[in-house]
Amino acid sequence: MPTPTDPSPAGATTVSEATTPVIEFRDVEKCFGSNVVLKDLNFTVERGERVTLIGPSGSGKTTILRLVMTLEELTDGYIFIDGEPLTHEQRAGRRVPVSKKRQKQLRTRIGMVFQQFNLFPNMTVLENIIEAPIHVLGRPKAEAIAKAHDLLEQVGLSDKADAHPTSLSGGQQQRVAIARALAMDPEILLLDEVTSALDPEVVGEVLNILRRVAETTNVTMLIVTHEMGFARDVSHKVMMFDGGHVVESGPPEKIFTDPDHERTQAFLGAVLGDN
Ligand SMILES: Nc1ncnc2c1ncn2[C@@H]1O[C@H](COP(=O)(O)OP(=O)(O)O)[C@@H](O)[C@H]1O
Ligand SMILES: [Mg+2]
Repeated sequence: MPTPTDPSPAGATTVSEATTPVIEFRDVEKCFGSNVVLKDLNFTVERGERVTLIGPSGSGKTTILRLVMTLEELTDGYIFIDGEPLTHEQRAGRRVPVSKKRQKQLRTRIGMVFQQFNLFPNMTVLENIIEAPIHVLGRPKAEAIAKAHDLLEQVGLSDKADAHPTSLSGGQQQRVAIARALAMDPEILLLDEVTSALDPEVVGEVLNILRRVAETTNVTMLIVTHEMGFARDVSHKVMMFDGGHVVESGPPEKIFTDPDHERTQAFLGAVLGDN
């Protein structure tokens, strides 16, 4: 688990509005060819805040997470992590790219878990987890291994350290992927539909692990999920997203029960109607 910054037993996450946002999108634009996916997108995520993005398929939710993870190139605008420019900055009135070194540095503070797990198939479970702590953060191998075993215990996979990902079920692979992300002690955890590829009977165990991470750490989370119960439980804020814009955002109690916008009502009606 990431080092808890709040030692109180209740793990009550503190969201401080007064400080610099941990994530800021400022006038973000993202195009794929002539397809404008995000346009004039502005939002912030505060330290320790857990924000869930909801919205129709193809609306750009994954693209938002991939931009934060620097897996996609920003077309225009700015993204700030802890107030530091992630991809571009303003210098003498011009928009210029930040150095790769600086970007890499910022990226080490961010972890992502994908719908399709994306484990390294040629490495064991343990090797998957210690790879980045050793090679990106420069942690001593023994320390990385000890932490990996600790994390495997927390996700209930102590006996799988030497297994290869292909021998594991989807639910087990996703738990390894969560352990791998947490091994970096991320300040920001990005979760992109992490249960969508799983058999229904193992969705609960993966969500429970994430609930525990939410309860016991102060890690900032940006979550894309169709699991509305989970979203309601763990989120401080829900952002309804459509047509490249935030349609509305607010606390889950508000968005899920009494949304202001017709588009949110229609979307939730369709999603919740499916269940
Ligand atoms: N690598 C890519 N190349 C071209 N188009 C893409 C790529 N990734 C996403 N898109 C397009 O961007 C839009 C948003 O996709 P995505 O962010 O995956 O949406 P969501 O996660 O909300 O379903 C879609 O129209 C999709 O086709
Ligand atoms: Mg997606």
